[in-house]
Amino acid sequence: MKKLVEVLANREELIQRSLSIVRSQIQTAIAARGQCTIALAGGSTPEPLYRAIAAQDLPWDKIHVFWGDERYVPSYHPDSNQKMARLAWLDQVNIPPSNIHPMPTGAADPAADARAHQTQLQQFFQVSEGEFPAFDIILLGIGDDAHTASLFPHTEALQVRDSLVTVGNKDGQPRITFTVPLINKARCVIFIVAGASKQPALAQIFAPAADAMTYPSRLIQPEGELWWLLDAAAGEDVKQPR
Ligand code: 6PG
Repeated sequence: MKKLVEVLANREELIQRSLSIVRSQIQTAIAARGQCTIALAGGSTPEPLYRAIAAQDLPWDKIHVFWGDERYVPSYHPDSNQKMARLAWLDQVNIPPSNIHPMPTGAADPAADARAHQTQLQQFFQVSEGEFPAFDIILLGIGDDAHTASLFPHTEALQVRDSLVTVGNKDGQPRITFTVPLINKARCVIFIVAGASKQPALAQIFAPAADAMTYPSRLIQPEGELWWLLDAAAGEDVKQPR
């Protein structure tokens, strides 16, 4: 794993730097494999990044978009991560509909939808049961509680090692989420974190020792590159690796 930590002066610079790195990773993936597979983060932080990506001139037919997690709501629901990314980016560009691979949430059974998405991933990446595909890029955020994707503190999802996708749990509300081993298989994981409220979580995530069940983002140690892109409000106390 190659870990890179950058603290940017403000949110605007954070988004511009994130865009630069995402663009570069997309171009690297397409040059190497003829396509790019990118899994998106939800929440509010990445929305301006998705708007900025939509304004780029990119080979959309070579880009396949997934989500690292999804709230268990319909795609038209205001809380839907899919809805946010479609409004900010995907509806604004000429990307083939078949290149968009949302997490299903329509079965009224989160475990069934998680299994269905796992099958969709296995078929897309042509991997067999027990094999973990490598996404080119996985974008992540962190919560104030140091969760990432829908891997919340002290939940069963943190322990899942034999699946690509599982059911997350936020205060009793079901989520669909990539598992730790799937995220850690990625060629490039990019955390994009902004705001002073994230400082305490970052302190525990970057601490030499802390309980990963309490601070789940500590579990993200990908085989490829690990980028931490922080604005100064979030990252002013983060000790950058030498
Ligand atoms: C989600 C996200 C989640 C998010 C963090 C940070 O579904 O909410 O995937 O993991 O990245 O909660 O959210 P903010 O960017 O809104 O602070």
